[in-house]
Amino acid sequence: MPQPANRLFSFPDYPLATLGRRVEELRAQGIDIINLDVGSPDMPPPDVVIDTLCETANKSNTHGYSGYRGLKAFREAVARYYARRFGVEIDPETQVLPLVGSKEGIVNLCLAYLDHGDVALVPDIGYPSYSLGAYLAGASVHWIPVSEEAGYLPDFEALSQNLPAGAKLLWLNYPNNPTGAVASPDFYQRAVNFCRKHDLLLASDNPYVDVTYDGFHASSVLQAAGALENTIEFISFSKTYNMAGWRLGAAVSSQTTIKNLLQVKSNFDSGHFIPIYESGITAIDEISQSWIHDRNMVYQRRRDIMLEVLPQVGLAPFHPGGALYVWAKVTDPSLNGASYAEQALINAHVSMAPGIIYGPGGTQYVRLSMCTTDDRLRQALERLKHWYQERS
Ligand SMILES: Cc1ncc(COP(=O)(O)O)c(C=O)c1O
Repeated sequence: MPQPANRLFSFPDYPLATLGRRVEELRAQGIDIINLDVGSPDMPPPDVVIDTLCETANKSNTHGYSGYRGLKAFREAVARYYARRFGVEIDPETQVLPLVGSKEGIVNLCLAYLDHGDVALVPDIGYPSYSLGAYLAGASVHWIPVSEEAGYLPDFEALSQNLPAGAKLLWLNYPNNPTGAVASPDFYQRAVNFCRKHDLLLASDNPYVDVTYDGFHASSVLQAAGALENTIEFISFSKTYNMAGWRLGAAVSSQTTIKNLLQVKSNFDSGHFIPIYESGITAIDEISQSWIHDRNMVYQRRRDIMLEVLPQVGLAPFHPGGALYVWAKVTDPSLNGASYAEQALINAHVSMAPGIIYGPGGTQYVRLSMCTTDDRLRQALERLKHWYQERS
């Protein structure tokens, strides 16, 4: 057998995929694992979205290729969303690109912009695909420190003193996975100014923009003055509309950046299934703000259940303003995030993500997802309490 490409040795398997296999093995042994590791919404999208899927799938003319740029009507719906939600006008013809989930766009953007010798600036605690995409492209990663005290926001002053040669792309993500940190419009303006000054492409990964708590409304980086020139934003239907398995997202940027991303993407896939685009249009046009608000209140309730109990199981949580996770520091110095998560899995049968997955700065942390019913969540917390109290 031939050896696989050297490329395969430059990055690991996707970390949560490895954890998922472990959970499957334990379940195959008959163990009831409660999964708090993955951010896959447990609630369905509204019926109107599912009805659109069924109706359009039942038509005879919806089964062909949909085009490399997806349906025009879908791109127009994304433009309507930006106008309505953020007051940002974009051209659906040239400034929107549908994606097979935002993850696809993240990795393809790395392939479109990074070469060997280039550097991606990645917050040290962030979604793994930013660094893995850079490695896949043969580029390297410069980790930007972020701290709880600074609300997990990068310090652009410090970064400009320490900007590595070859820096080309800066990743941001607020509301943030895994920390739940949120950003203000003023922060986005500083980010845009910083990137324009240093000739960087700013990539704002924004899948949780509509998953926020305590009355907070997240903004788009594209609201910042001058943003469109050097910024790309990714949105996703996965979390906004509970459509993670449908794999639908979009990139919004300047005509040039969209064209470059499409050049890579058009070689990887041939667009999405037309009924998926049609369902996305329905989601944008027909899902009300009150549906989103009510759904967010469910997560907020789960968040509050977790925030109350986690200190009793050796975890110091950060208060998340958005996204689907509670990020918590392991307080027992004899444990780190990985050993805590491992022991919780083995002894309490609760699966959570070790913080190291999100960068070296996450070593002492774990991430718990809110994507399970209140009852299962309470059961998980009881199990953790039982295990943690037994061990001390
Ligand atoms: C920060 C972040 N970006 C992107 C994604 C990928 O989302 P999608 O389902 O749109 O590919 C996720 C999924 O969890 C995420 O947390």
